[in-house]
Order: sequence, then structure tokens, then C-alpha cells
Amino acid sequence: MSKLSLPKDKIKVVLLEGVHPLAEQAFKKNGYNNIHYLKGTPEPDALKQLLADAHILGIRSRTFVNKEILDSCEKLMAIGTFCIGTNQIDLEKARNHGIPVFNAPFSNTRSVAELVLAEIIFLMRGIPQKNAAAHRGEWQKTAEGSFEIRGKNLGIVGFGHIGSQLGVIAESLGMKVYFYDIENKLPMGNAQHTETLNELLAKVDVLSLHVPSTSVTKNMIGKAQLDKMKPGSLLVNAARGDVVVIEDLIASLDSGHIKGAALDVFPEEPSSNNDPFISQLIKYDQVIITPHIGGSTLEAQVNIAKEVSQKLLKYSNNGSTSSSVNFPQVSLPEIKDNQSRVMHIHKNQPGMLEKVNHIFTIHSMNITALHLQTEGEIGYVIMDVDCNDVDELKSELQEIEGTLRVRVLHG
Ligand code: NAI
Repeated sequence: MSKLSLPKDKIKVVLLEGVHPLAEQAFKKNGYNNIHYLKGTPEPDALKQLLADAHILGIRSRTFVNKEILDSCEKLMAIGTFCIGTNQIDLEKARNHGIPVFNAPFSNTRSVAELVLAEIIFLMRGIPQKNAAAHRGEWQKTAEGSFEIRGKNLGIVGFGHIGSQLGVIAESLGMKVYFYDIENKLPMGNAQHTETLNELLAKVDVLSLHVPSTSVTKNMIGKAQLDKMKPGSLLVNAARGDVVVIEDLIASLDSGHIKGAALDVFPEEPSSNNDPFISQLIKYDQVIITPHIGGSTLEAQVNIAKEVSQKLLKYSNNGSTSSSVNFPQVSLPEIKDNQSRVMHIHKNQPGMLEKVNHIFTIHSMNITALHLQTEGEIGYVIMDVDCNDVDELKSELQEIEGTLRVRVLHG
């Protein structure tokens, strides 16, 4: 196991917003004991104070790490978001401070796919309407309009992590799966891809959306697309709220052309559980409404805690930045015994590597491995050397103009 130039108990780890306790345990298991674990997130001034001498920060979606915060925490070397999104962080500013940000984009893939599958079954059976009626004291015992999913056509828009997983599960229950994606995606199982969205729309009994929010997917499903679906079709959106034009969906529900829908995401969502949910959809019994909880399961929380803490630990212990969302990505091997790893984060400007090399040459250091990666305005160079005494070299590297951060690890 590598040793840090800064002892692990001097590395201050701040975990906010009650991230899953597994994250704290992972740091402790790795010898990090200077951990500050808070259930909530402090107000900006208190946050600045807490982070003034922190090295690693773990947050969820409610801690805003803006320019002011980043400017004030000089020692911060990595941030992990124990969730999917990273909008709460000024990513560019973090990168320009030499701070990689890590998240867990795919830890809840299975959770979303399972919810969607359950919704498809419920919609096919007309359960939302029957359930709502029963809550009002009405008894709707009938097989009318109630179907099995077996043999029905499922259309998936966006055959990425969630879409393809949904396809596999749906197929295992006997659905015929078709998908449309802008990228060339290898079909899984017997899923068949369609050349166009229109081709998909015309074919399917249920359409499920699994695309990101982009300028192309905004309002992707409106009147024109809904009209192309078969009468009595179903729609599921657990992707992003702006993908469906809600007014057009409502018109289609009113006419009965779209028979039912399940929506987990909305153009406007309450910012907290204390705010009301306002939508014209609430009066439609045939619409399953869930509060953006497609990925919210305890299993997903566990996966997120493991994934993000491992990424932070990997960076702290060995310098790897694989799958960082804002940083040059380097996957590094373990540091060999009696070697040192010198990591130089700098502004991506001409002649930088030459200056770094020059200092290694002056110190007659034998470089055993060299990794370099740049992204945008940042360069990340990692040199493994056959030497443990690199203090002087480190200070000289810090003097190079354009240097943002120098770290050293020992094997
Ligand atoms: P992913 O990146 O693995 O897959 C997205 C797929 O959509 C890719 O294959 C991509 O090529 C495709 N795509 C992009 N633009 C397209 C277009 N214009 N037309 C057709 N295909 C297009 O993403 P993942 O993990 O599968 O997530 C999908 C969506 O689910 C995202 O919007 C994500 O935000 C949302 N999500 C929702 C959650 C919830 O709680 N409801 C939880 C997790 C993700």
C-alpha cells in the first residue's frame, strides 16, 4: 500500500448531507481518521470555515460549491458527489484549482429499470385507475382493457445504461424490445434497433424514455410524436422532465389516444419535500406520478457510497482520476516499493512538460514511468521515480509558473 507524503490522519475528510455511512467506513478502513461527518450541510460561511483546511469533500445535491467556496479552500484536493448530478459544483473552477470531481453516474441504473418495468405492468393492467377508484370506495372488477405484458412491444428511446438494462429485463418477461438511439448501440438479447424515432413510435405498445436532457431531447415527445403512436399506447418517462411536452401529453390523455402514462420527472419539480407539487397531471387517475425516485433505493445508496468513496480513495492513495467529470483521466498502477510518485497539476500551456522534465534531470532522477493527460486548460503529469527523497524536487516543481498543485506519494 502506498504512503502519502501527508500522513493519513492529517488528511481532513469532510462528509456532508448524511452520505451513506459506508463512505465513512471506507475512509476509516483505509486509515483516514480525521473525518468530519455531518447529517446536513452548513450555511455558506460555516461551510467555508469547515473547508478552510479540508482536503477531501463528500456531498450530495444540496451543498453548493461555488467559486467563492473553492477560492477559500486552498487545501481541497478532491470532491465526491454521492449522487448522480454535479450541477451543484462549479466544475470548471474546480478543475482550474486542480480539484477533480467524482460522482456515481450509474449506481442506480438497476433501480430505475426495475421501477419502469413495474410501471409498465401496472399501466398494462389499468392498475393506476383501479387503485385510485378503490381509494374512493369504487369497485372496478373487470378484465376490460387489462393486458399481460408478454408479447407486447416495448419501445426504448436511449439504449444506454438504463435503457439497455430495462430491455434485458423486459425481454426476460416476454416483451418484444425495440430501441432507438442516436449512437450505434449493440443490441442486447433480441432487442432490435430502429433507424428513426418515428419508426419506433409506430411499432410499440409502450414507449419508455431513457435519454439525457440535451437541446435535441428537449420536447422530443410532443403532439406529432404522440399522434404517431398506436391508439391506446402507454408512455413512461423516468429520464428528464423536459423531454415530454406535458400539455401535448394531457391532450392525448384527454382524447384517450394515450391510454396511460408513468412520469417520474417533470419540467418543474419541487426543490424540497416541503414544497408542493403543482401539475395539471394530478387529476389523471391513469397517470402514475412518482417524485423523481426512479433511482432512489437503499441499494443504489450503498452502490453510490462504495463507488464514490473508492474513487476518492484511489485519487488520494494513488493519483488515479478515472471517470472524473472535470479532470484529465488517468488510470495508474500501484506505486512500486521504494519508489515515489510525483503528481504535477498545471495550466495546460506550451513548454510545461519540458520545464518539469528539466527539474527531474537536474536532480538526476531516474523516471520509471510517465503518464500525461490534458483536458481543456489543465494538464496532469505523473512521474514515478526510483527515489524516496523528493522534498527538494517537490518545492522546485511548485515554483514553475502555471503550477496548480504538486502531490507526492511513496511506495
Ligand atoms: P446513458 O448515458 O447511459 O444513456 C443515454 C442514452 O441516450 C445513450 O445511449 C445516448 O446515446 C442516448 N441518446 C442521447 N441523445 C439521444 C437522442 N437525441 N435520441 C436518442 N438517443 C439519445 O444514461 P442512463 O444512465 O441510461 O440515463 C438515462 C436518463 O435517465 C438520463 O436522463 C438520466 O438523467 C435519467 N436518470 C433518471 C433517474 C431517476 O431517478 N428518474 C436516475 C438516473 C438517471
